[in-house]
Amino acid sequence: MEFSIKSFESIPSLLTAKSGCIAVGVYEDKTLSQAASVLDAGGGISAALASGDIGGKAGSTLLLRGVAGVGAHRVLLVGLGPVGEVTEAGFDLALAATLAAFGTLGCADGVVALPCDQVKGRTAAWAVARTVELARRLRYRRDTHKSKRDPSPAGVQEIAILAPNVKANRAALTQASAVADGVELARTLADRAPNLCTPAYLAQVAQRLGKAHGFEVEVLERGQLADLNMNCFLAVANGSDEPPKFIVLKHMAGRLKDAPVVLVGKGVTFDSGGISLKPAAGMDEMKYDMGGAAAVLGVFRALGELRPKQNVIGVIACCENMPSGRATKPGDIVTSMSGLTIEVLNSDAEGRLILCDALTYVERYKPAAVVDIATLTGACVVALGHHNSGLFTRADAEHDELAQELLDAGRQASDGVWRLPVEAAYAEQLKSNFADLANIGSPGGGASVAAAFLENFTKNYVWAHLDTAGTAWKTGADKGATGRPVPLLVQFLLNRS
Ligand code: BES
Ligand code: MN
Ligand code: ZN
Repeated sequence: MEFSIKSFESIPSLLTAKSGCIAVGVYEDKTLSQAASVLDAGGGISAALASGDIGGKAGSTLLLRGVAGVGAHRVLLVGLGPVGEVTEAGFDLALAATLAAFGTLGCADGVVALPCDQVKGRTAAWAVARTVELARRLRYRRDTHKSKRDPSPAGVQEIAILAPNVKANRAALTQASAVADGVELARTLADRAPNLCTPAYLAQVAQRLGKAHGFEVEVLERGQLADLNMNCFLAVANGSDEPPKFIVLKHMAGRLKDAPVVLVGKGVTFDSGGISLKPAAGMDEMKYDMGGAAAVLGVFRALGELRPKQNVIGVIACCENMPSGRATKPGDIVTSMSGLTIEVLNSDAEGRLILCDALTYVERYKPAAVVDIATLTGACVVALGHHNSGLFTRADAEHDELAQELLDAGRQASDGVWRLPVEAAYAEQLKSNFADLANIGSPGGGASVAAAFLENFTKNYVWAHLDTAGTAWKTGADKGATGRPVPLLVQFLLNRS
């Protein structure tokens, strides 16, 4: 899909544009947005409003053809809600309705001429980025493996966005397109069936990304992981016939002396629970347990396109969690790469076992900050639902600062996070009679207990943990990967560059 920006100075040219469809806003009291009044030169739009066919409720639409004095074949009137009070939610509704209508049209190009500088609390750049994001999300298809693909019209392939300040907004467009590419990669990987999306497949994808964008990519194999003493990671991987892959990607476009930001992704390509087997219902969804890894790969795709002058390292620990004669049993004790011994009381709490060794491994980079991304706990879904990812850090000044950066980036990118505690009280739950730590605690506060487990392995740098169990995919009719938190992470990195 192609996007371009048109300037406000060219509003009058909307009248003569030979576009397939121009979408313009109308308000609840039947007043017209600026673009709508331009197209109303022949009175066609006022007449449609007077007919009562559209009331201006946010997200309502009315398609007009052959509007007097307008060169475009179609004009789509889109409701924006009350005049002077275009909210973010109202704009989103209008945008979604516009793009849905564009998708069903038999024309190749369209203009989104909604008042993107009128959204309360948001800039025009946000609205431009939002347009790209929603258009690309809507176009995403999950039918690669279906014998018969959807026969409905291809819809609008080229979208021009009318915006003030072309130059500034063109930067927003470039960023949004790169983020959309990253989101699309993350979704494609996470949606991919677990027999196809194996650790080896993810390693291949990383290597291809590296070739395409000139990143250094390194893949550590089982033997190397054993030499490194990554026994917790291997304790999870050992139950499966699929070999584990520990993947490192490096985007080093900053100064040599700049400490890198390190992203660590959980890449469990299927989480059966292991010997602590999960119930059958919904187990297929555990193919999404590599959502953290998918997000890191998505971020690197966006970095490859945007090439910000900064140092970013991505580390993804990939394996399957399966029951077998070689699988870790409840009660097994393993020594982590850090030296701490872990009593594995539940083989389904595998994410923290994989991450703890990855978090120790990344110490070698002397990172400016480490952010891990993991579909870690069902408890986080209970706490925050599908709206926000969980954000966990220590509570000292430098961690508060990192937490604030992530909160701000989430808000900017409309990819929210909400902060939850990591405190000594949660760590208490992890005491074991037989080892330094147990891998599960007593019931209650499970998302914070998991974070408290990870905290033991992050003493030597500034660290934040994102639990994306509720945000990485959706269930129900709209079941599938979301690509979150790629938008948040890219924004966070760009804010630092
Ligand atoms: N991958 C799951 C977490 C998960 C559960 C994500 C549901 C999305 C939806 C993780 O490995 C897991 O199984 N966690 C356990 C931990 C428990 C055994 C302490 C959980 O949350 O039930
Ligand atoms: Mn699990
Ligand atoms: Zn898991």
